[in-house]
Amino acid sequence: MHTIWVDSYDPTLIGQRLAWGRSHSVYRYGEHEVIKIPFLEYVMWPKLQERLERDISASQKYFGEFFLSTRIVEHPKTRAIATIQPFIVGHYLSKEDVRHPAGKQTFEKFMACYDAMYADGVAPLDLVGQGGVLERKLSNVMVLSDGSWKIYDAAILDLFGFEWWNWLARGVIWAVLRRQEGTIQYFRS
Ligand SMILES: Nc1ncnc2c1ncn2[C@@H]1O[C@H](COP(=O)(O)OP(=O)(O)O)[C@@H](O)[C@H]1O
Ligand SMILES: [Mg+2]
Repeated sequence: MHTIWVDSYDPTLIGQRLAWGRSHSVYRYGEHEVIKIPFLEYVMWPKLQERLERDISASQKYFGEFFLSTRIVEHPKTRAIATIQPFIVGHYLSKEDVRHPAGKQTFEKFMACYDAMYADGVAPLDLVGQGGVLERKLSNVMVLSDGSWKIYDAAILDLFGFEWWNWLARGVIWAVLRRQEGTIQYFRS
């Protein structure tokens, strides 16, 4: 079922639900981590693991330290896949964070990563996320208390792994990209 070997997770470590995500549910996992259980496990099978691997490795490659470490795991019995990350606390990246000179500098570095990805012909990451629909924020980027920025939801905005229902994904991607470009312009203005 899976393309490469992945470690099993321990279902007994799953704790409180933190969010019903767009593409996964997020739960506490042990003391210091979260686990994200995808909704599309069955519809997107068998491409989901491949997509996650691709999205995570591209995020690491282009965004480096800006990307929160994420690992793919599977349920010990059903082998359904999920991802695990450190549990972080912070706020969504907003214009406030890029107003002061240090923030502006970080933003330029961050956008250089974004542009490098584009220059290589890879579709952009979804940075606005759900929380960026109503507010002009990049909700898939969390600003932590030490001032670091972390992308914690890696999803390349393209049709990889989608099949007949991709007309829907196409519309969503178009809308997300428009919103994202608008928010980036707003941050720069
Ligand atoms: N690593 C994490 N640590 C703490 N909370 C998280 C973490 N990842 C996600 N969350 C919480 O879950 C919400 C949704 O996460 P996300 O991965 O962006 O899902 P989706 O984009 O599918 O809604 C976030 O807004 C945040 O509140
Ligand atoms: Mg998100």
